[in-house]
Amino acid sequence: MPDAIFAHPRFVPIYDAFDGDRVDLTAYVDIADELGADRVLDVGCGTGCLAILLADSGREVVGVDPAEASLEIAKSKDRTARTTWVHGDATTVPPLGVDLAVMTGNVAQVLLTDDDWARALQGIHAALRPGGYVVFETRRPEHRAWEDWAADAAQVTLDIPGTGSVERRLEVTDVNLPFVSFRYTYRFLTDGTVVTSDSTLRFRGRAEVEASLTALGYQIRDVREAPDRPGREFVFIAERTT
Ligand SMILES: C[S@@+](CC[C@H](N)C(=O)[O-])C[C@H]1O[C@@H](n2cnc3c(N)ncnc32)[C@H](O)[C@@H]1O
Repeated sequence: MPDAIFAHPRFVPIYDAFDGDRVDLTAYVDIADELGADRVLDVGCGTGCLAILLADSGREVVGVDPAEASLEIAKSKDRTARTTWVHGDATTVPPLGVDLAVMTGNVAQVLLTDDDWARALQGIHAALRPGGYVVFETRRPEHRAWEDWAADAAQVTLDIPGTGSVERRLEVTDVNLPFVSFRYTYRFLTDGTVVTSDSTLRFRGRAEVEASLTALGYQIRDVREAPDRPGREFVFIAERTT
């Protein structure tokens, strides 16, 4: 069940506005170029920002997400209709034989249990062609991002075309490592509606991620910085080798 933030009909249309410029995604398009990936699976594609960029660069793309409302936004932005949008997750996609599977926007961190994580990596493994790659980011636990979130409690207000002014506030509600929970509260100033969304993320360390990839039939090819968030994220590039 996706968090309300990705599935609430009132919230989803404004998700991209609060997400701002997605400068983080350029690095993934560059990695797809570097790996020569023509067919790409975007796991947890959300509102489709990366999938659409990849399709616009001539690739065949499948975007999968369990939040139907987010997929509807993705479809509405997909002018070329070259992307296949699938309601589901990594465990429900067929063996597509793609060259590359990506998880951006810290999708890896929403997979909370060891079992959720292993099943997602197995599903991706089955969707890749032999020799295909999985590329994803996760926040480094040692950077303790939740402390920055807790310290920056100021609300943000945006004026969103078609919606009006919306205020957003973020509270960290629990830190029980490796799990961190937080709540977003949105107030729609035009009619006073308040929408809250509670989320929990898991912060996995580099050694833990590498061990799980190796155990599940991947070889680590590289672990990089996210260029727009130096010191904060790991970007793993792993190849399906079995
Ligand atoms: C922070 S958003 C990132 C969306 C997109 N990847 C991006 O970069 O814009 C996290 C996404 O993960 C999706 N999600 C939640 N649970 C998931 C799961 N088990 N498997 C795949 N995606 C999931 C949510 O619905 C949401 O769209």
